Amino acid sequence: MDEVPEQDPDPRQVEVEGPRRFSESLLFTLQRRFFERGGVAAWSTGGVPSYITTNPFIARVYARIVDAFRRDLERAGAAERLTVLELGAGPGRFGYLFLRAMDEARQARGERELPIRYVMTDGNPALVHCWRGHAAFEPFVDGGVVDFAHFDLGHPADPWLEVARRPLSEVAPRGPLVVLANYVFDCVPQDAFECAGGRLHEVLVSLFAAEVPEDRLDPELLSRLRLEFSRREVPWDVYRDPALDAPLAACAREADGGTVMFPSAALAALEHLAGYSGGRLLLLAADKGYHRVEEVRERSEPDIVMHGCFSLGVNFRAFRSYFERAGGTALFAGHRPDYLDVCVFLRNLRPEGFPELRRTFREQVAEGGPEDYFHLTQSLESGSFLPTVEESLGLLRLSAFDAKTLALCRAGLLKHLPEASEAVKVEFRAALRRVRANYYHIGEGVDLPFELGFLSIHAGDHAGALAYFEESLALYGPSEPTTFNIGLCRQHLVPVPEA
Ligand SMILES: C[S@@+](CC[C@H](N)C(=O)[O-])C[C@H]1O[C@@H](n2cnc3c(N)ncnc32)[C@H](O)[C@@H]1O
Repeated sequence: MDEVPEQDPDPRQVEVEGPRRFSESLLFTLQRRFFERGGVAAWSTGGVPSYITTNPFIARVYARIVDAFRRDLERAGAAERLTVLELGAGPGRFGYLFLRAMDEARQARGERELPIRYVMTDGNPALVHCWRGHAAFEPFVDGGVVDFAHFDLGHPADPWLEVARRPLSEVAPRGPLVVLANYVFDCVPQDAFECAGGRLHEVLVSLFAAEVPEDRLDPELLSRLRLEFSRREVPWDVYRDPALDAPLAACAREADGGTVMFPSAALAALEHLAGYSGGRLLLLAADKGYHRVEEVRERSEPDIVMHGCFSLGVNFRAFRSYFERAGGTALFAGHRPDYLDVCVFLRNLRPEGFPELRRTFREQVAEGGPEDYFHLTQSLESGSFLPTVEESLGLLRLSAFDAKTLALCRAGLLKHLPEASEAVKVEFRAALRRVRANYYHIGEGVDLPFELGFLSIHAGDHAGALAYFEESLALYGPSEPTTFNIGLCRQHLVPVPEA
C-alpha cells in the first residue's frame, strides 16, 4: 500500500529519519535518553513538570481509591495483601506520599500492618538505584512494604525486585494487581491512525532538522526537530494481535476521520502485567489525556508537545476499549479535562462487584479531584494572596499538608502570625510538622526545612525552629541566614537566670 506524502519537503532541511510507524520513531529513543541523562536532576533542577501528579492531595486520593478497592475485595471474601505497582515512578516523591497516605489511614483504622506491597518501577535504572538509597523509604523497606524494580514499558519483562531479590512472578499476588501510572503513558511509544471510508490508514512520522546532527541520539536534538506526517493504508489487523487490533478498530471507527492516537506500548505492557495476576488488574492513571469521543474526533494530527522532552496526549478512550474487551470497565470523571485526566480501569473484574470503588472514585475524582485542587493552587499563585492563619490552616488541611500550599500562604502568614492567639499558633506548629512529614528531599532550590524554621520563629516556637534549621544545615550546607537563625534560636532557648 502506497505512502501519501502530504507536505512539500523544505529544501533547507535535512531528513534525520524517513517515514515510519510512530512508535518506532527515533523520538521515543531520544525521550528515553532525556530521562536517562537527567536522572533525578530532571525534576530537581531540570523543570520536568510534576507537582500536579506528585502532591499529598493526589496521593491521598489514590490511597482512598486503593483502600476502597481492597474493601470491595474483602467483602467478596478475597482478603489478601494487594500488590500495587507504580509505573514510571520518576524521582519517587509520589510513591513516598502514597505510602504515607496509606499508612495514616492504617493508623486511623488501628491496624498493625499496611495491607499492601508497593513496587516502584521506572525504565531508568538510575532512578531505581536512587530510591533504594533514599532515607525516606527506609521505614517502609524495614517493614517489608516497599520494593523497587526496573520496568520498561517498551520492553516488558519480569520485574526484578531489588529488596526481595526475586522476580515479581515469584511473589505475584493471587488477587488482582493494582497498577498506578502518573504522567507516564504520555511519554511511551504510541501509534497514530485514521479511518476514512471504512479503511484504516496509519499516520507515519518523518523527522527533519536544519542540519545533520552530530549525534543522532543526543536528546538535545528533540528541540530542533520538525515533524512531517504522511499516511498509508494498513489492514485492520495491523498489530496481528487481537488485544490491540480490536480496541484500535473500535476507536478508529468512532473517530470519524479524526486522528486516533493509539497507546500500543502501554496496552502491550498492561497485557504483560495482567499475566502475573490471572488477568485481573486495576489501573489508576492520570495524564494529559482525554476520554470523550469528541476529543478524539477533533484531532487532525498527533498532538505532540515539546518541553525539553515531549508529551503526547493520552487517548484513554482506547484504554476503555481494551479493558472492556478484557471483561472490565472504565471510570471517567465525565467532564472535559484541562490539565489532567484521572481514570480507573478494571480488567477481568465485574464492575458490579466494586461499589465502594465506584463511590470513592465519584467522590474523590469526579466531584472535585486532583485537577480541581491544582486549579485552586494555580489561581492562588497568580494573585497577591494574604490569607489569615486560620485560612492558611484550612488550605493546608485541604491540601493534605502540602509544602507548595504552605509557600502560597507565606506572605499572609508572616503578616498575621505574630498577632495570632496562642491556640492558633499551636495548631499552626502541628500543621508545620505534618508538612515536614511529607517532605521528600531531592535537592530542589527551595530549602523547605529553612522555610519551616523561619515560620516557626514567627509562630513563637524557637525549639522547633532550631530543629528545622539544623536539618537545613545538614541537607543544604551552611549559609549566613541559617547560621544566624540557629544563633538566634539558641539565644532564645538559653534559660534566663533567676534574679
Ligand atoms: C514525566 S515522568 C513522570 C514521573 C512521575 N510519575 C510523575 O508523575 O511526575 C515520566 C517517567 O517515565 C519514565 N519512562 C519513560 N519512558 C519509559 C518507559 N518506556 N518505561 C518505563 N518508564 C519510562 C521516565 O524515566 C520518567 O521517570
